[in-house]
Amino acid sequence: MMTPEMIETLIQIVGNENYIVNEADLFKYGHDETETIQQTPEIVVKPKNTAEVAAIMTLCHQNCIPVTPRGAGTGLSGGAIPHKGGVVLSLEKFNKIISIDEQNLQVTTEPGVITEVLQNAVKEKGLFYPPDPSSKGSCFIGGNIAENSGGPKAVKYGVVKDYVLNLEVVLPDGTIIETGANVLKNSTGYNLTQLMVGSEGTLGIVTKIVLKLIPLPKYDVLMLAAFNNLQKAGEAVSAIFRAGFVPSGLELVEIDALKIVNTMINSHAIPVNDAIAAHLLIELDGNHKDILMQEMEAIALLLENFEVGDLFFAEDEAQKNELWKLRRRVAEAVKLDGYTIEEDSVVPRAFLPDLILGVKQLAQQYGFKAVCYGHAGDGNLHIRIKDPNTTTSFNQPHIQKALADLFILVKKLGGTISGEHGIGLIQKKYMPLVMQEANLQIMRSIKKVFDPNNILNPGKIFDMH
Ligand code: LAC
Ligand code: ZN
Repeated sequence: MMTPEMIETLIQIVGNENYIVNEADLFKYGHDETETIQQTPEIVVKPKNTAEVAAIMTLCHQNCIPVTPRGAGTGLSGGAIPHKGGVVLSLEKFNKIISIDEQNLQVTTEPGVITEVLQNAVKEKGLFYPPDPSSKGSCFIGGNIAENSGGPKAVKYGVVKDYVLNLEVVLPDGTIIETGANVLKNSTGYNLTQLMVGSEGTLGIVTKIVLKLIPLPKYDVLMLAAFNNLQKAGEAVSAIFRAGFVPSGLELVEIDALKIVNTMINSHAIPVNDAIAAHLLIELDGNHKDILMQEMEAIALLLENFEVGDLFFAEDEAQKNELWKLRRRVAEAVKLDGYTIEEDSVVPRAFLPDLILGVKQLAQQYGFKAVCYGHAGDGNLHIRIKDPNTTTSFNQPHIQKALADLFILVKKLGGTISGEHGIGLIQKKYMPLVMQEANLQIMRSIKKVFDPNNILNPGKIFDMH
């Protein structure tokens, strides 16, 4: 529990109107998009600048008060849940794009900018920031850095870490550092920038971000391919790359997921019949439309080897947007339909069919439904589980046992637990299944160097004991 004096000091740092202490408003800051887990903080503070963040951290470090940094709260691993109580430090006031450097193809931004807002701002200058999580219309760029997010474009363009050049970070004791330099190459000491990326708000609070940009490709083409056999759809994925193509999106959506999202948004854009088991959504982008069309036709031909059914080319922007909307809203739709935990397993791409088969076998063995979708081109599958006997899987032993079996399979296939959502609160118990105790000890040692009092987002990724 925090003393009234500490609360008062925090309020003085951020000023009136930039804090929350009433129960009803605090509630919203006690959860993210992860299942139904809730832990209400004692206070939410909304600092407006780096100096205020530093003052908050100094105070909390000296008094051993837990601090949970928060972006937009769209996370799927419980990273923003203040499960040790204390302070939620919201970055929502850090909502300015500071500058777009058209000479060097870089953008400098605050962390509370919505990812899509940043993408659109650089797009106006003919520039491209590719990482595009499904929540891009609401998530913050700072949260994307905390989780090292991906999204459909990652298959060609890489994930957030591939674009972060330099960060301003407030360390848990209030020290302010720059992690690197605004350069494309950097062999100057340990890579603190990349250590921060994906550290899930456990090592420091990012207050300023320098991102690399690339030229915006002029054209893209999009094709939807129906398959009567889920395994064959999975096999087709790696064949596309082996044949020499590099799609800018290669997504899989199992038919049950499509039916649910169709119902939620009342869409009839994709025909559904009982024979279809899954769709692949395939996008190519580049600067020469003719070449893109030729390549897509060649991919269509290749898919015939995998018993592909109907193929649908999106004719215009409206059709493309409709298809992407359906794909992006799957997670939300299946959650509303009662599917609980969202898994984020990733395996070497060619082993995707083995992973899909394993998921279906486990579902049968444990008696729940499982639906698969996601970034097939990256071997990154989102797996949602629906069990009639549970509304949240977090503390359900039989679901946890099934997940442990799943991760043992994932590890056997050369994969790991999370491709883009992070470990946070809900996956940490499975970490020993995919790494040695020595790995976890190194991580704990790093955490101790940055945060000796264990106040910053404590209990995430791993426990300290
Ligand atoms: C997606 C999010 C859930 O791919 O990662 O839809
Ligand atoms: Zn995803």
